[in-house]
Amino acid sequence: MKTALVTGVTGQDGSYLCDLLLDKEYSVVGLYRRSSNNNFERIKHLLDHPRLSLEEFDLTDPNGINTTLRKHQPDEFYNLAAQSHVGTSFKQPTTTFEIDAVGVINLLEAIKNYSPLTRFYQAGTSEMFGRNFDTKDGHKYQSEMTKMLPQSPYGVAKLAAYHMVQIYRSAYNLYCCCGILFNHESPRRGECFVTRKITKYIGDLIKNKNKGLLELGNLDAHRDWGHAKDYVYGMYLMLQQANADDYVLSTGQTHSVKEFLIAAFNSVDLDYNKYTVINENLFRPAEVDYLRGDSSKAREKLGWAPTYTFDTLVKDMINSDCYGS
Ligand code: NAP
Ligand code: GDD
Repeated sequence: MKTALVTGVTGQDGSYLCDLLLDKEYSVVGLYRRSSNNNFERIKHLLDHPRLSLEEFDLTDPNGINTTLRKHQPDEFYNLAAQSHVGTSFKQPTTTFEIDAVGVINLLEAIKNYSPLTRFYQAGTSEMFGRNFDTKDGHKYQSEMTKMLPQSPYGVAKLAAYHMVQIYRSAYNLYCCCGILFNHESPRRGECFVTRKITKYIGDLIKNKNKGLLELGNLDAHRDWGHAKDYVYGMYLMLQQANADDYVLSTGQTHSVKEFLIAAFNSVDLDYNKYTVINENLFRPAEVDYLRGDSSKAREKLGWAPTYTFDTLVKDMINSDCYGS
């Protein structure tokens, strides 16, 4: 039986990846950081699973990381933990860098020293491209070949980690991959991210729980939104190949925040104009205006393809927040 360690097990992707790995008969160790009210909401359906165990772990603690790697020497290690909110990274740049960049060095060192056969996945992001894009047939897009020019402390930290993964792969011959994942959402998405903020608001509205208007920032930014379930499958595939490499995962479609807002409100026959207000304080000091991924490499080499469209993603999130299904 294969063993996998998953950091960020309490987060959106960690929870879906656990579902997938347990379905594939792995023994999974979910790594979580201690808090005053350890919140296992997203994995509550798995807490009694005989092949899932949970252990305390913090990416900023090298000693604990060394102990964990030495103890388990897993077949696969998925690093999904991060300070993952771009807006917060402007307010907490040092913490973000400590977790998202230095934390990854801590992991790579531990794998090199104590478990060099472990296959390692690092959660990279389209935020690393910043405002940069390439153009093909008049369309803007980002691929593995697009130059990365991040626009946020989060993007810089993730780019540092991406380069460290490449260095440990070439210098020490470790099997380590970086997924360059475009935005992916789901009913388990954190409520501080714009899609879930919108669908949660609509759900509360339907249930007569809302007190005020929905405050949003920049509605003009474009994102390539997929479903987290599809993306964790791509992570898994990256660690099953003959050779380690980096891959973009994306749908290839892009929509503005405003388009998501309209689609979500329209799906319950409501007019977003009546419920929404722009709050300038929610604009970021620097913005990534346009993301649209070209995932040809993953489609060709991994056989990966998204199964959800923009419309079915919106529907899944709305159904969950409004009707609990
Ligand atoms: P998420 O829901 O915000 O989950 C982040 C996880 O990291 C949480 O479990 C959190 O624990 C944990 N964490 C934070 N700091 C930690 C630390 N110092 N030590 C150990 N654990 C820590 O994020 P997600 O959407 O699942 O994303 C998963 C990964 O993919 C992240 O690395 C993110 O940056 C990256 N990514 C996400 C997307 C996307 O669109 N979702 C796209 C590209 C890349 P708590 O529960 O205690 O907070
Ligand atoms: N969060 C948030 N809240 N964003 C808002 C709001 C709001 O009230 N109003 C407008 N936005 C805009 C943001 O300015 C941004 O342009 C867009 O909505 C998406 O914001 P988020 O949902 O916070 O996602 P993100 O694109 O910044 O970051 C997510 O995707 C990255 C991949 O590109 C996160 O999941 C990152 O961890 C991930 O790496």
